[in-house]
Amino acid sequence: MAFILFDGASPRAYPRAMTDLDTFIVGLPKAELHLHIEGSLEPELMFALARRNGVAIPYGSVDEVRRAYAFGNLQDFLDIYYAGAAVLRTAADFQDLATAYFDRAAADGVVHAEIMFDPQTHTARGVPIGEVVDGLLAGMTVAEARHGLTSGLILSFLRHLSEGEAFATLAEAEPWLDRIVAVGLDSSELGHPPEKFARVFAAAAAKGLRCVAHAGEEGPPAYVWEALDLLHVDRLDHGNRALEDDALVDRLRDSAMTLTVCPLSNVKLCVVPEIAAHPIDRMLELGLKVTINSDDPAYFGGYVADNYRAVAGGRGLDKAQLATLARNSFTGSFLLAEAVAAHLARLDSFVAAN
Ligand code: HPA
Ligand code: ZN
Repeated sequence: MAFILFDGASPRAYPRAMTDLDTFIVGLPKAELHLHIEGSLEPELMFALARRNGVAIPYGSVDEVRRAYAFGNLQDFLDIYYAGAAVLRTAADFQDLATAYFDRAAADGVVHAEIMFDPQTHTARGVPIGEVVDGLLAGMTVAEARHGLTSGLILSFLRHLSEGEAFATLAEAEPWLDRIVAVGLDSSELGHPPEKFARVFAAAAAKGLRCVAHAGEEGPPAYVWEALDLLHVDRLDHGNRALEDDALVDRLRDSAMTLTVCPLSNVKLCVVPEIAAHPIDRMLELGLKVTINSDDPAYFGGYVADNYRAVAGGRGLDKAQLATLARNSFTGSFLLAEAVAAHLARLDSFVAAN
């Protein structure tokens, strides 16, 4: 039985005055499709796990950790994110991490989440993959019992590592593949095009796994084309830079490809200069099937409802547009058709009443 350190909403889930739009955003049933579970490690839990496991961390206080979260690009962030993950050692740690995320997500109206994890970040430190997956699965079971929140696991390969290392990770994960919904591709994008992982994605697809990949966050439109044509992704993570290529926009729209957009992440990692310049409404106008997600909420300043609030405030999205984004989160999920239909029915009745 795991020892649960944090039981309840994260310390930043403070009560706030709710406007009508806030109430609508939080109440809107939604799925989260782009979330790195290691990126939900709040500084408070980082310190608690460091103490529990006797791991040294290079910060003296929670405030000092938060002050370190100023990033000029993706790599700046990744360096700090991988260092923070070093406090995660045991299945109990991963269960605590997942439980803290799901409690926080449920408070934001998330009823389904497909969460990424980076096994190589942990196996490279000698943590067995079973500790990681068993802990996350235990947290997922708690979330369903506690909140009725369903979830799926996405095994993400680190793209700065080799194709051979990705194949070895897929082999290590074999005993758990029936509990994993998809493979993904994350970490340093520039210089590591999707093409490098075409064969391992084909092998994963042959095992019945769905495929997602980060592309077009910092990488050029060519990387998005490769994710579509060489990795045969079922869903695209980020995709912002696809807007630079009209033919690519047509392809994404005509194939109804789901894009998992992460507005606060985009600002923090300087993909867009400020939220007021975010292209979310342009993406909607172009007919792209976009969704709103938090990416690494502990590092980027907000969970999923904060991201909906940010685009509502920064780009003036109205309730109908916000409802479209939530609707896309269900149709873009890997849930079975009957579950998607049930979520859409609940969403429609919420919108009709609000
Ligand atoms: N981009 C790429 N890799 C990542 C990210 C991200 O935003 N978060 C965690 N790994
Ligand atoms: Zn991401």
